[in-house]
Amino acid sequence: MKKPMASGLEGVVAAQTALSHVDGERGELIIAGERVETLAGSQRFEQVCARLWNVPEVDLGPARVWAAARLPAWGETEGMDAMRAAVAQLPAKSTAIEVTAAMGVFAAAWARARSGEAPVSPDPRLGHAADVLRMIKGEPARDELVAGLDAYLVAVIDHGMNASTFTARVIASTQSDLVSAVTGAVGALKGPLHGGAPGPVLDMLDAIGSPERATQWLETELAAGRRIMGMGHRIYRVRDPRAAVLETAVERLERAGVTSRRLALARAVERAATQVLAARYPDRSLQANVEFYTAVLLDTVGLPRELFSPLFAAGRVAGWCAHFVEQQATGKLIRPASEYVGPMPN
Ligand code: COA
Repeated sequence: MKKPMASGLEGVVAAQTALSHVDGERGELIIAGERVETLAGSQRFEQVCARLWNVPEVDLGPARVWAAARLPAWGETEGMDAMRAAVAQLPAKSTAIEVTAAMGVFAAAWARARSGEAPVSPDPRLGHAADVLRMIKGEPARDELVAGLDAYLVAVIDHGMNASTFTARVIASTQSDLVSAVTGAVGALKGPLHGGAPGPVLDMLDAIGSPERATQWLETELAAGRRIMGMGHRIYRVRDPRAAVLETAVERLERAGVTSRRLALARAVERAATQVLAARYPDRSLQANVEFYTAVLLDTVGLPRELFSPLFAAGRVAGWCAHFVEQQATGKLIRPASEYVGPMPN
C-alpha cells in the first residue's frame, strides 16, 4: 500500500549526506563535521569549500579571472534573474571551482552594471571574499568588512536538504551537468520562501522605522495575510543558529568601529515578531531564521539590498557543487511518485 503524501515532503528523508546536518530541535548546524559557530568567523570561505569538497586546499583566484572573461550582457534584470542567466551560459562541463568562483564574479559585475559602472577585474591573489567585495565597491575593502562577508559566505554554504540543494540533486541524479544543476538551484533559491527574503527583511525594518511601531506593523501584516520575512523555518523549532552567527558577526564589526544602522532596531523587531507570531501560532514555534540577520550583516558591510540574494547564491553554490558530486556517486535517479486525484476514464 502507498504511504500518504507528505505535504511539501515535510519530514521525508531524500538522501544520505556527509555534507551538513541540521538539528531543528536543538538548533544545531554541522557542516562537514564542524559546527557553523566554529567555522564562521574563523575560517575563510575557500577553507570551508575545501572541507565540503574533501580536498586539501581551494584557490578560487584563477577561476575568478576565467569567469570574468565570461560575463554576459546584463539586461534590465533583477539580481537573481541575472545570476541565473549568467551561470546558465557557462560551458556545461565547468568545474565546481569555476562555477563557485563565477557566482562571486557575476554578483559583483551585475551590481556594478546596475549602477552604470564597468566591471572591476578580479585580483587572483586575494581571498574570495576580499576580491568579491573589491569588485563590488571598486576599491580594496577594510579587513573587518572582508571578515564580515567571509563569515556570511561560510554561514550559508550548506544547509541539509533545502529546496535549492534538493533541486540541484534532482538534476544531478539524471546524470545531467553541474551548470544545469546550479542554474536550477538558483531558480529555487530566488523565491521569497527560500533565499529571496533578506532584501524584504530590510524593507520591513525600514517600514517599521522605530521599535515602538513594530508590534502594530507586524500585526497589520499578519491581518492582511502576509508572512513576516526572516521569521519561521521548515526545520528549526528554535532560533536558527545562523541568525546568532550573523548577529555575532555584526557585533564584531561594531567592535571594530563599523556601526550598524539597524542592529538595535532589528533586535527589537525580532522580539516583537517572535511574540506576535507566538500569539497567532501557539502550536508552532516561529523564530528568526538566517535571512533576518543576513539583512543586518550585509547592510553593515555596506552592500545594497539587491545584492543580498545573489550573494546568498555565491555562498550556497559551494554546497550545491558538493551535493552534485555526492548525488551522482549514488547513481540513482530521484523520481518520486504522485497520487492521481483527477478524473478516470469511464
Ligand atoms: N509569517 C507569518 N506566518 C508564518 C510564517 C511567517 N514568517 N512562517 C510560517 N507561518 C505560518 C503559515 O502562514 C502557516 O499558517 P497557516 O497554517 O495558517 O496557513 C503556518 O505558519 C505553517 O507554515 P508553512 O508554510 O506550512 O510552514 P513551512 O515549514 O513550510 O514554512 C517557511 C517555512 C520558511 C516557508 C515560512 O516560515 C516562511 O514563509 N517564512 C517567511 C519567509 C522567509 O523568511 N524565508 C526564508 C527562509 S530561510
